[in-house]
Amino acid sequence: MLPDAMAPMRICTLIFTLASSLVWAAPHGSSASPASRQSTEKLVFCHFMIGVVDDRTSASDYDNDMQQAKAAGIDAFALNIGIDGFTSTQLDFAYESAHSNGMSVFISFDFNWYSTSNTSGIADTIGTYAGYPAQLLIDSKVFVSSFSGDGLDLAGVQSDLTAHEIFWAPNFQPNNIASADALFNWMAWPNNGDNKAPDAGNNLTVSEGDTSYTTALKGKPYVAPVSPWFSTHFGLEVKYSKNWVFPSDLLWFDRWTEILNLGSQFVEIQTWNDYGESHYVGPLSSPHIDDGNSKWTNDMPHDGFLQMAKPYIAAFHAGSKTVDSHIESDQLIYWYRPTLKSASCGSTDNCEQPWPSPTPNPNYFTGKPNGYDTMEDSVFVIALLTSPGSVTVTSGANGPETFGAPAGASSWQVGMGTGKQSFSLTRNGQKILSGDSLKDIISDCVCGIYNFNAYVGTLPAGASDPLSADGLRSFTNSLSATCQPTPSLGTATGAGTGVVAVPTAVGTNSSALSMIGGTGNSTSSGSGGPQPSAVRIAVSPLQGSGATSSSAVAGAPATTSQTPTTTSSTTAAIMGSGSKTITALSQLFPTNCMHAGFVWGGPPGSDPAAWCNGG
Ligand SMILES: *[C@@H]1O[C@H](CO)[C@@H](O)[C@H](O)[C@H]1NC(C)=O
Ligand SMILES: *[C@@H]1O[C@H](CO)[C@@H](O)[C@H](O)[C@H]1NC(C)=O
Ligand SMILES: *[C@@H]1O[C@H](CO)[C@@H](O)[C@H](O)[C@H]1NC(C)=O
Ligand SMILES: *[C@@H]1O[C@H](CO)[C@@H](O)[C@H](O)[C@H]1NC(C)=O
Repeated sequence: MLPDAMAPMRICTLIFTLASSLVWAAPHGSSASPASRQSTEKLVFCHFMIGVVDDRTSASDYDNDMQQAKAAGIDAFALNIGIDGFTSTQLDFAYESAHSNGMSVFISFDFNWYSTSNTSGIADTIGTYAGYPAQLLIDSKVFVSSFSGDGLDLAGVQSDLTAHEIFWAPNFQPNNIASADALFNWMAWPNNGDNKAPDAGNNLTVSEGDTSYTTALKGKPYVAPVSPWFSTHFGLEVKYSKNWVFPSDLLWFDRWTEILNLGSQFVEIQTWNDYGESHYVGPLSSPHIDDGNSKWTNDMPHDGFLQMAKPYIAAFHAGSKTVDSHIESDQLIYWYRPTLKSASCGSTDNCEQPWPSPTPNPNYFTGKPNGYDTMEDSVFVIALLTSPGSVTVTSGANGPETFGAPAGASSWQVGMGTGKQSFSLTRNGQKILSGDSLKDIISDCVCGIYNFNAYVGTLPAGASDPLSADGLRSFTNSLSATCQPTPSLGTATGAGTGVVAVPTAVGTNSSALSMIGGTGNSTSSGSGGPQPSAVRIAVSPLQGSGATSSSAVAGAPATTSQTPTTTSSTTAAIMGSGSKTITALSQLFPTNCMHAGFVWGGPPGSDPAAWCNGG
């Protein structure tokens, strides 16, 4: 039963009224709503890809994300949007859920999709959401951000929007600050200045980017980036083929330390749910579609990354330079890649084929991801301790190695050994925490492919966090090895023997497993392979439109745009009536547009080019 058009408004108003007395007791800030802040407050944002959540059917599908982010101390989600047909539906859900959960949100326009000349469209969208109670306001102005978008006429957008004042925090290059109120730096990873891993001759740190931005900002607020990881491995099975890593080993730990010392006014975590580039800190179980990433995200929870960040976020809010006094209980957070760098996947890898087009794709590399050698074969452990203790790590045949860890936060590493991974914390001869990871390191390849994503575990263990059926839908697309599209982490053994020991690492309990097994059954129907539910393409501004001028200093913003431009059914509707044939080779950059009247001429079974909404 569908309510009449006014009903949702009435429901919103009701929730607004009921919630106001509870929600307005905001954790920091004394303003009237959690969404309304003073320009001097320190805030933590987290980048959220609307483009991968088009399978959500109600505001409540956002509730877990809102609750978990808020519990970690995140103040607002930056809702990254493209120009898909589902965008406004999903924005409505997100704003509604944010409101009912006491979170704030704001829009981040993705200029891989949005045109910088679209000032009136951008003004319209800002205006539509400006009055929603969950909209983040800074000094009563509507907070708006972007990915890329250099050249956008900020004053032009503002003059199209008479009812609201905008607080602009776009991701422009530092030299393009124009009239922005703040700037967001996307480049959260050490890089070569050209959107790839550093090499000996071109080696830019994230903090060099901080310096470029803070110099250009001359005291205006800076949105500093922090990201745990970067690894992407899309082969020719999709149109947005890309295959590289940024060095990520201890980045999450080191960068948070740097953030506390930098003391910027704003921080943006990249990202909540960009699974394709492996920098998610949100759950795998957060509802989303599979753009092909499940080959390297299945069984690879990152919840521990968010756990680690929690005391750092608290320290950041408090303006502390160190995290130590914000650690409330003993925790070990550990991560590692599932295979050694030397593993060779050969012909089973999904990036085995050379790039077929005469037009080069600077983001695609054959075999191991570009930059893989900047990663160390180590198991990394972060100890967050209330008082000193001994951290013991055994990685396969390596170790046990024991480290005397001080009170506060410290990082440790042990060379990766294949086999079982075990961790413990002892103090005064007593075992405080102990457990085996659910994920062994193996000597060959996971499901036959190069997987440079991280497995993250914690002690005490978190809840199980499996991918859903939607999140596994493209799993077998271009997978040669026999590997089922189901979560497969078992139940941990090796329970701790100590007083406060929590035996299991993050994983899936057996009743959850049987439930998932059923779901996987329904997704793996062999009829013609999984249907890609979306097509997207990532374009660095370097390859993008001339509107963007990239600065060599801070590095180009990395690819993002997790924005599908259509569903396959839409594309199917366009096909068949046209006169121009589009193939994978002829339509790759800068956009992957099917226009009305075009026909898909790609190889059978490959996913068709996308339809450009604007086309
Ligand atoms: C212009 O903005 C409107 C509203 O946000 C959007 O629907 C449309 O797709 C945009 N077009 C481009 C090309 O940016
Ligand atoms: C880049 O510089 C850092 C030190 O700032 C160093 O640790 C790293 O090995 C360098 N990377 C490369 C690829 O040379
Ligand atoms: C195990 O999984 C089931 C199904 O998801 C859940 O209801 C139950 O609470 C879980 N138990 C534990 C101990 O995590
Ligand atoms: C598993 O697959 C079979 C055959 O396709 C189907 O009949 C059955 O309903 C499926 N089970 C579940 C739990 O989806």
